Order: sequence, then structure tokens, then C-alpha cells
Amino acid sequence: MQLPKQIESERIVLKHPVKPTFKLAEELYAIIDKSRNTLREWFPWPDKTNSPEDEFSYYLMGFYQKRWDEGTAFGYIIFDKKTKRILGNINLCSVDEKNKSAEIGFWLSDEATGHGYMQEAVHALESVAFATGINRIVIKNDTDNIRSVHVAKRCGYVLEGVMRQDAWDEFHGRFRNTNVWSKLKSEWEKETK
Ligand SMILES: CC(C)(COP(=O)(O)OP(=O)(O)OC[C@H]1O[C@@H](n2cnc3c(N)ncnc32)[C@H](O)[C@@H]1OP(=O)(O)O)[C@@H](O)C(=O)NCCC(=O)NCCS
Repeated sequence: MQLPKQIESERIVLKHPVKPTFKLAEELYAIIDKSRNTLREWFPWPDKTNSPEDEFSYYLMGFYQKRWDEGTAFGYIIFDKKTKRILGNINLCSVDEKNKSAEIGFWLSDEATGHGYMQEAVHALESVAFATGINRIVIKNDTDNIRSVHVAKRCGYVLEGVMRQDAWDEFHGRFRNTNVWSKLKSEWEKETK
């Protein structure tokens, strides 16, 4: 499966960095560093991202490049169309071509939250994924991650259940409970009719 390197919607554009530069790594690192306290609450990777070099080697060359080439994850940087500012990231990961399923993961910088950019990004990416042949998209979030729960709900995802204490949460020092939300292609088709 392949996805387009650029996906546009009303206010934002999702861009896969085709030739990642160190300058881009520096820009992304500055945003991550500024939003570090929020991001590390929900992800383990901010604590492993301590320099633009880390961002370049692990994220840009690893996650974005290698996994795109393998077809296992499609990572995009979210840009504001008007200001060209980087708002965050969204990706289609855990791509299972046999079962036609995938998962959407995302984050925004602190400055970019509260404007509906993530709902717009989820709708843009899911539309392309469903149109490309994916049948089921999952969003997973910590049951305490209220902003992420709201994104899944507002985007019309159905709560399938909670994976109880499925992972150790280093930041909060407790086991994490994870919501599993999904949307099916048939549901997306009904919504977009
Ligand atoms: C999860 C996360 C992406 C949600 O960001 P968000 O800004 O709340 O979500 P959206 O971009 O969809 O914006 C929705 C908010 O914008 C508001 N909004 C303002 N203008 C809007 C518009 N034009 N359209 C829609 N919503 C708008 C909504 O009212 C809502 O605010 P509220 O929840 O206070 O009512 C963000 O909090 C984040 O990155 N957190 C850290 C990382 C993380 O947890 N990632 C997910 C891991 S599973």
C-alpha cells in the first residue's frame, strides 16, 4: 500500500518529509522541546528525544523514512497552510494489509491545541486511508487523556472497550488503561455521503 506524500484540507496540509533535512529536525525538536511536559505525559519518546540529532536519526530517518519505505507506517508533519508553521504530527501506523486495518496516532504542539486542527487532520488522513483500501482504523488512548478521547469521539470513532492495565506508564508510575476506538470504512462512507 502507498499513500500520497501530501494531503491537503481546509486549513492544514499533511506532508511526508521526502528528503528530511537536519534543519527540519531542528525545527521539530524545538517544538517537541517546548511541548515536552505535555507530550511526555502520554508518550515515552519525548524522554528519548534530547537533541535535534535524536530527532533526525530516530524519527526523521527511522520512523518517517524507513517505515514509509516498508509500508508499515505513514508519518506526516502537520503544517498550517497560512502561516506554514508546524503544528504537530499525524501518522497511519500498524498497517496490516492482509486484514486491511491500521491505527492513527497523533500529537500537536501546545500552541496548536484548541483550534480543531487534529480533528481536521484525522478526517483528512482517514479519508485517504479508506479510499486506498483500509477497512478499519483504530485510535488508542490512555483513558485519562481527555483531549485525545475528545478527538476520537468528535471524529465519530466507536469505543470498543478498554485494555485494562495493558502497559506500564513510566511518567505516572502506574499501569495504563487504554481505550480502543475504531471506525469502519462503511461508517466513513455513510458519514461522507
Ligand atoms: C490530543 C491532542 C492532539 C488534542 O488536541 P486538541 O487541540 O484538543 O484537538 P483538536 O485539534 O481536534 O481541537 C479541538 C479543540 O479545539 C476547539 N476548536 C476551536 N476551533 C475549532 C474549529 N474550527 N473546529 C473544531 N474545533 C475547534 C474545540 O472546541 C476543542 O476544544 P475543547 O476540547 O477545549 O472544547 C493534543 O491535546 C495533544 O497533542 N496532546 C498531547 C499528545 C497526545 O496526547 N496525543 C494523543 C496520544 S493518544
